[in-house]
Amino acid sequence: MAEGEEQADTAAEATAPTERQRSGAVTRVAILAAIGGLLFGYDTGVISGAAEMIEDRFGLSDLGFEIVVSAVLVGATIGAASAGAVARRVGRRPTILLASVLFLLGAIGSAFAPHVSVLIISRVIVGLGVGLVSVAVIMYISETAPPSRRGALVSLYQFAITVGIFVATLVDEAFVDVTGGWRWELGIASVAAVVLFIGMAQAPESPRYLIAKGKLAAGRRVLSTLIPPEEVDETIADLQRQLARAKEVNWREIFSPAVRGVLLIGAVLAAVQQFTGINTIIYYDVTIFARAGFDSNADAVAASIIVGFVNMAATVIAIRYVDRLGRKPLLVAGLVGMTTGLVMLGIAFFFEGTASATVSLIAMLVYIASFAASLGPVVWVLIGEIYPQRVREPAMSFAVMVNWISNFVVALTFLSLLDALGSSVTFFLYAAIAVLSIIFVVTKVPETKGRSLEEIADETGAALEAMEFEASPRR
Ligand code: BGC
Repeated sequence: MAEGEEQADTAAEATAPTERQRSGAVTRVAILAAIGGLLFGYDTGVISGAAEMIEDRFGLSDLGFEIVVSAVLVGATIGAASAGAVARRVGRRPTILLASVLFLLGAIGSAFAPHVSVLIISRVIVGLGVGLVSVAVIMYISETAPPSRRGALVSLYQFAITVGIFVATLVDEAFVDVTGGWRWELGIASVAAVVLFIGMAQAPESPRYLIAKGKLAAGRRVLSTLIPPEEVDETIADLQRQLARAKEVNWREIFSPAVRGVLLIGAVLAAVQQFTGINTIIYYDVTIFARAGFDSNADAVAASIIVGFVNMAATVIAIRYVDRLGRKPLLVAGLVGMTTGLVMLGIAFFFEGTASATVSLIAMLVYIASFAASLGPVVWVLIGEIYPQRVREPAMSFAVMVNWISNFVVALTFLSLLDALGSSVTFFLYAAIAVLSIIFVVTKVPETKGRSLEEIADETGAALEAMEFEASPRR
């Protein structure tokens, strides 16, 4: 067996790919996986335009309407919670394949739903897919990318999310006057699901997963298609050293003192990404613009398309700079920009009725561009990096689940907050959370730029190794 592995290794070295081929392979793998982000964005974004048509078709109560709208978020929370266990058991690639099947089934089920119950179940199934990809895609890209490009490649996934949201807005607009248009809006996602399935079926498994599962020869083979030959041995040795030092941490053990510290950094970042209010803009921007005094619904929708475009375009800033400037500077700069936008929104609504429409649009663009260049992508980048191999699956699953629960809470409470506190105070509240988040980022978040996952784990995983020593005779 060892001999067979050695022969395979020698053969692999003899045909070592050039730098260009390696770079192309990495990019291809990341783009394929990022299509998962496209479906995440599309399926979360599309419902806002489809919901009213669905309400008319099935004659929904307020509660029924809310269930249809939030079914994806419920599914995504469950999907994210299960994703760690699935990705550990069957691998990252099969998890993404499973998600693509769920996307397909959910899209078809929604498009042909004869009754609202079928629609709700289909949307929960889509949500399960969204939850699975929101863990597995980041895990897969982080474990596959070379350290110098890891930030950009995970940011590509966020870019795909923003493209998905933007396309959903356009598709919703295109079908707005078509009878039964919502069926097309929800069903069209099946095309991307098929592309994701075919693409991932041809992609390699994450090399770190293979090595962690004892498939050294296969892991080495994949790794040598992705990073320079001289780094392959070192990467494998670093990973194996860590695997030998720490034991596999399960879901319950992530709350133990050895893991809690690093677990919370990811979970708080995930919560911050939502509690600074991003989805009040993504889900309700048309409502906000209407309140801010836009004269017609068409103007409000046009403004919302501009917001979606800027969300997409500004993500490119992160792709370009996250590996050059680092994660923390982007996060801090982005949070300062978001705070500025939120304070401007608060002020615009304070003087409601005057120039609030234009000011609110500018404020929202400042806010969304700042989010897109920082918190949007960088939170995913960090969640994919800070957890050592032995704890990665349950810890990422937990952090991403916190993200979906927070998303749900914000979506559910926003309109009530507007009514209870008024628009101004509501936006000031999100601004206050953004300010507190700056302190958190500066004091607690590690800088991970340019370091291998194993180097990062040497720092964040120190306590984990201590746990292994204490753990032998379990307390
Ligand atoms: C967030 C989503 C949000 C999207 C907006 C993602 O990173 O997780 O909740 O809708 O960015 O672009």
